[in-house]
Formats: sequence, C-alpha cells, structure tokens
Amino acid sequence: MKILVTGCCGYIGSHTCVELLNNNYEVIGLDNFSNSKKDVLDKIEVLTGKEIKFYEGNMLDEDFIRKIFKENKIDGVIDFAAYKAVGESMQKPVEYYINNVSSVLVLLKVMKEFNCKKLVFSSSATVYGSPEEVPISENSKTGGTTNPYGTSKLIVERILKDLYEADNSMDICILRYFNPIGAHPSGLIGEEPNGVPANLMPYIVKVANKKLECLSIFGNDYDTKDGTGVRDYIHVVDLAKGHVLAMEKLEKEGQGLYIYNLGTGTGYSVLDIVKAFEKENGIKIKYKITKRRPGDIAMCYSNPSKAKEELGFICEKTLEDMVRDAWNFEKRNKN
Ligand code: UFG
Repeated sequence: MKILVTGCCGYIGSHTCVELLNNNYEVIGLDNFSNSKKDVLDKIEVLTGKEIKFYEGNMLDEDFIRKIFKENKIDGVIDFAAYKAVGESMQKPVEYYINNVSSVLVLLKVMKEFNCKKLVFSSSATVYGSPEEVPISENSKTGGTTNPYGTSKLIVERILKDLYEADNSMDICILRYFNPIGAHPSGLIGEEPNGVPANLMPYIVKVANKKLECLSIFGNDYDTKDGTGVRDYIHVVDLAKGHVLAMEKLEKEGQGLYIYNLGTGTGYSVLDIVKAFEKENGIKIKYKITKRRPGDIAMCYSNPSKAKEELGFICEKTLEDMVRDAWNFEKRNKN
C-alpha cells in the first residue's frame, strides 16, 4: 500500500514513517521544512534501510498536491502537516487557520479527484478543551478550546464529519493524541522545536544539557496529588505505531469515520516527570515553582480502551523509556 505522509520530517511524522516502512508500506513523503530538517530523510533511511519518495512543497499549493497524486497511485494519506505551537497560535491565528484548516481542504479536494478514500488525521486531546471528566473517553464533550491551534483541530474534525456524512464511502480515522514525548531509541530522530521550547519535556532536556538554566513549573496549587499539572504522556514510538494500526483498520474494514484517543491512560504530574528524568538519567534538574500558565488545566488523561479494543493499540513503553530516550536524543544532537 502506498501512503502519502504529509509533514513526514516532523516529530510524529518521522517516527510514523519509520513504523510504516518497517511494516512494508510504501511511503511518499511531503514536507516544507517549516519546522523540520532535511536530514531526517537520511535518518529514516538509516533506521529502516528503505527510502521514501520525497516531495518538498506547500500543502496549500493545489497543483503541487495534484502532481503528487498524478505521479503516484496513493492508497491513503496520513496528514501531520500543521503548525502546533499553542502560544504562537494566539499571536498568529490567521496563519494557523490557513495552515491547519485550508491545507486539509486542499488535500480533501485533490483526494476526491483521485478517488483516494483513506485518511488518518492528526488531531489532539486539545479538542476536549477543559475536560468535564477524567479519564477522557472519545464520547467526552469536545469544544471550549482556548486557542486557535486547538480550535483548528476541532474545525478539521467537524469538516471530516461533514465530509463523511456527505460521502459514506470515505474511510476516515481521527487520532486524538495526548502528550507525546521521547524519541526513537536510536537517538537519530526526535523532537527538535525551534527556539525556546514551550513544552515540558523539550524544556527539561535543555536544562539537563545546560542550554537553559532552570525549569519553571507552572503552579503547584492544582487539585492533583502534588499540586502540579497532570498529563497523559505517551512515547512517540507507541504513538507512531498507532498510526499503522489505524491505517490497517481502514485497509481491512474501511467505510467509516473512527475516532480514537491515543494515550496510555496514566496521568503523571510535572514533578513525576522531573523525578523520573533525574532518576533514569542521573542528572539533577534545577526547577522553581512559578505561577500557573494561562489556559492550563489541572488534569488531562485518556481512557484508551476504545483504541485497545478496536485497533489493538497497546503502549509498550514505560515512563523510564520516555525520559531516557528524550535525553539520549538530546545528547546525540547536542550541537
Ligand atoms: N509545564 C511546566 N513548565 C514548562 C512547560 C510545561 O510546568 O516549562 C507543565 C504544564 O503546565 C503542564 C505540563 O507541564 O502541566 C505539560 O505541558 P506541555 O506544554 O508539555 O503540554 P500541554 O499539556 O500544555 O499541551 C500539549 C501540546 C498541545 C496538545 C496538548 C494535548 O502542547 O499541542 O498537549 O493535551 F494539544
């Protein structure tokens, strides 16, 4: 099966390419390197011994997307290409809506022209807004997103539901990620955010590496076991494998719109993560408690049972694996 992976050089995209190739899918990759690097392509090849056929360009360029479909008989698409920085999305809402929503419309239009029916879409637990209950199941209420990034994911989910209503022959799978962290155990690919990291694990590794001085823990007065925020951290390799399972489901069963949470079902606090990192890697992380970050919620973790039952999705990696692999990637890519 030939799969088009948009955003193939990004954090989750690159790990998913590795898992697809290891499962004998043919991968056509697309990226514009707006938040990724070209050498990731070589690294994917080193890791798998296989090449992906690569196209550099912009998802908004309809003719460019059409060219890819013309030159390749694409059986399915996994769509990762999007902006993902919550804070930045508040400053640049128009850019976020164009890049994250319009790009999907272009893709869907061209998929229709070429009768390509299978789509796995990269969504996020952010669509649950401030959750009314934890653990969060797929039936939990969505909406109430607090930033354009989250709203862009919610809008695309709505577009995909409308599309499925109009055309039941589509095979669509929406994956709502919880908090992906870690890196490929080889240390070759991982998360490389531009500038000062906004997310917890990339920040911790920079403190460990002495590139940043001190981690600010945003609040210790939440109603959680130690007062710090609780999230469902999932190893990026487990997450990537979830995409292969989703594509397999569309291949075998198809004709449906499926939604799955991809998380472990376990919530860890910020302090749990800091302590696990210190213990596993033998490095002290300097931190201070500061005030809450606006927009943050106390607790967010998944009920992962639907993905387990319907996809056979099981997270194999532990918290120790996550913190070790995150640090291993940083060490290998220090400069
Ligand atoms: N945190 C700190 N200090 C930091 C960074 C984060 O204390 O420097 C805390 C946050 O307050 C939160 C936890 O660490 O309690 C996790 O924060 P992240 O920024 O790593 O992740 P978020 O849960 O805020 O958001 C992430 C992604 C979103 C996605 C969401 C899904 O950034 O894109 O998970 O739940 F939508």
